[in-house]
Amino acid sequence: MARRIVVVGSINMDLVTRTNKIPIPGETVIGGDLQTFPGGKGANQAVAAGRLGSDVAMVGHVGNDVFAQQLRENLHADGVNHTCVTEVEAASGVALIVVDAAGQNSIVVAPGANGWLTPADVQAASDMIKSADVMLLQLEIPLETVECAAQLAHQAGVCVILNPAPAQLLPASLLQLADVLVPNESEAAVLAGLPIDDRRGLKRAAAKLQSFGVAIVILTLGSRGTLLAQDGKFTHYPPFDVVDVIDTTAAGDAFVGSLATALAEGSSVENAIPWGNAAGALAITRSGAQPSLPTRQEVEALLSQATPDQMEGTNL
Ligand code: RIB
Repeated sequence: MARRIVVVGSINMDLVTRTNKIPIPGETVIGGDLQTFPGGKGANQAVAAGRLGSDVAMVGHVGNDVFAQQLRENLHADGVNHTCVTEVEAASGVALIVVDAAGQNSIVVAPGANGWLTPADVQAASDMIKSADVMLLQLEIPLETVECAAQLAHQAGVCVILNPAPAQLLPASLLQLADVLVPNESEAAVLAGLPIDDRRGLKRAAAKLQSFGVAIVILTLGSRGTLLAQDGKFTHYPPFDVVDVIDTTAAGDAFVGSLATALAEGSSVENAIPWGNAAGALAITRSGAQPSLPTRQEVEALLSQATPDQMEGTNL
């Protein structure tokens, strides 16, 4: 039987320009041409999993503007079921993104329609949610909607993966509903309320997050790989080498979508992490959010060249 992933989250149009340097407050800089790419953390993660061949459904909102049809068509093109993506009287979500010469980005999201996704919309999609094996959640929709989705999935025995991005403090009641928490370093520091300055700080933050009731914490560390905290153990997975970083936008989404695909296919968390790392590494070699997300063939090709450390990790 096909294993299904359901994503409850944001759908954005990304308006992107490249500059040599990201402006500081009060500064104006001249950028390159304006580019538009479909994005949004929720939709990116859905497309990331869809491109790897998963059976994926999305629950979300688009607006009633020029972007809506394109955003929906894009989900469709990657095989994402969008019957629970509904249109509301608002602007579609938009992200204003500046990417610098090193491929690092700065993002401001205008949530628009995403801000109108309510617990009632989640309830309306309850059949879709209960029939899934894995749920993906992020924080670009109202928190009460995230909580409702997590609750519904948890009660139905669906594995809940929470990517707490963008960073914000979360109630323990929500964290307890997550089976797997996937923050980056800055999100982990905010959630744990601890500074992360070194390896000790990383372990301390991961352990603190586990103390809120999440059994599995996966900390994505960008160019330093990934840390898994599980069963009282910490395992570090080194990254895949990337010679030319073009654009880091959606690298985290590529990781989460790929991790979810591997978990939905029955992999252990330990075996799913290299899938996430490989997809993240491939995503940063290309521009844009969804255009950068890799195919299954690309991920498998990179995994076939992985070292034992990259596949199995090392104890920290
Ligand atoms: O994670 C990258 C995404 O963040 C972008 O696609 C943008 O839409 C924002 O949601």
